[in-house]
Amino acid sequence: MKEQLAKIKSEALAAFGAVTSPAALDELRVRYLGKKGELTAVLKQMGKLSAEERPAMGALANEVRSALEEAIETASQKLEAEALEERLKAEAIDVTVPGKAPKLGREHPMYSALDEIKDIFVGMGFTVLDGPEIELAELNFDRLNAEEGHPSRDWSDTFYFDEDSRVMLRSQTSPMQVRAMDSRQLPIRIIAPGRVYRKDEVDATHSPMFHQVEGMVIDKNVTMADLKGTLNLLAEELFGKGTVTRFRPHHFPFTEPSCEMDVQCHKCGGAGCPTCKGEGWIELLGAGMIHPNVLRMANIDPEEWSGWAFGMGLERTAMRRFKIADLRLIFENDVRFLEQF
Ligand code: DAH
Repeated sequence: MKEQLAKIKSEALAAFGAVTSPAALDELRVRYLGKKGELTAVLKQMGKLSAEERPAMGALANEVRSALEEAIETASQKLEAEALEERLKAEAIDVTVPGKAPKLGREHPMYSALDEIKDIFVGMGFTVLDGPEIELAELNFDRLNAEEGHPSRDWSDTFYFDEDSRVMLRSQTSPMQVRAMDSRQLPIRIIAPGRVYRKDEVDATHSPMFHQVEGMVIDKNVTMADLKGTLNLLAEELFGKGTVTRFRPHHFPFTEPSCEMDVQCHKCGGAGCPTCKGEGWIELLGAGMIHPNVLRMANIDPEEWSGWAFGMGLERTAMRRFKIADLRLIFENDVRFLEQF
């Protein structure tokens, strides 16, 4: 039995010393120390020994067991240390590898144009308002004097949410005039940029979603001269000193008189070219003196107060400002296009 124990000890210690994986170590542990293990088997024979032999043999067996357990502990620690070493190696970061430069974005040209427009108006004492894109038809049409039967109210022109045409995607930023009159103290000086929606097919100058900037002034003794002076200043600030504008009579339900403002074509200087479709002028915005009905519906006395308003297409303004030929470029977000600004 003594030889048996010695043999187990030397074999087991050698095996534990050479083990290379936790699974193999566990297998060895079971093989020697498990219920059916080799050392256990020897211990079970202790009963057959004489009373004199037993204590010495017992002590020896215990010593072998402690030696094996210690060897297992050592092997286990060694494996853990090796595993950690491996992981550190695998996860090592080479700080000397050259970095990848992050791609920097930049401001969209349309928003650059909007920022310029905001700066110009804020400089003249206007407040910038934000409003909902889902709007009541009452504010988009009725309160703006656009009577029942007005073509822009048609289902083929406007996105409605309900059968009885009460809620819609705003077709213009003009309902912001109503919101401003309903919520602000007089006098009022506001601009309101934002998205608007119309049932238009996409082409070089149309999109079912586009942006407008609304502007409105209500004060005492406000005249068409204020409108022209302010919008001429806007044109010069945006497009450069000496930019030539013209005001053409037009019709909008919510202004009287109404006009459209054109700027002279920057390409041909008014002679006519493909950019201005041969006209020499590019239409920029609609404007006019606020209709007395619109003021009255907002409980503002048109005898005491007067005002003017305008609505400009932002895409179109950005195209003019940055000399962009096709509206679709503004929406496609092709990086090669955007990088040029
Ligand atoms: N809302 C008009 C449109 O979308 C533009 C417009 C014209 C706005 C005249 C105004 C205005 O405020 O006075 O075509």
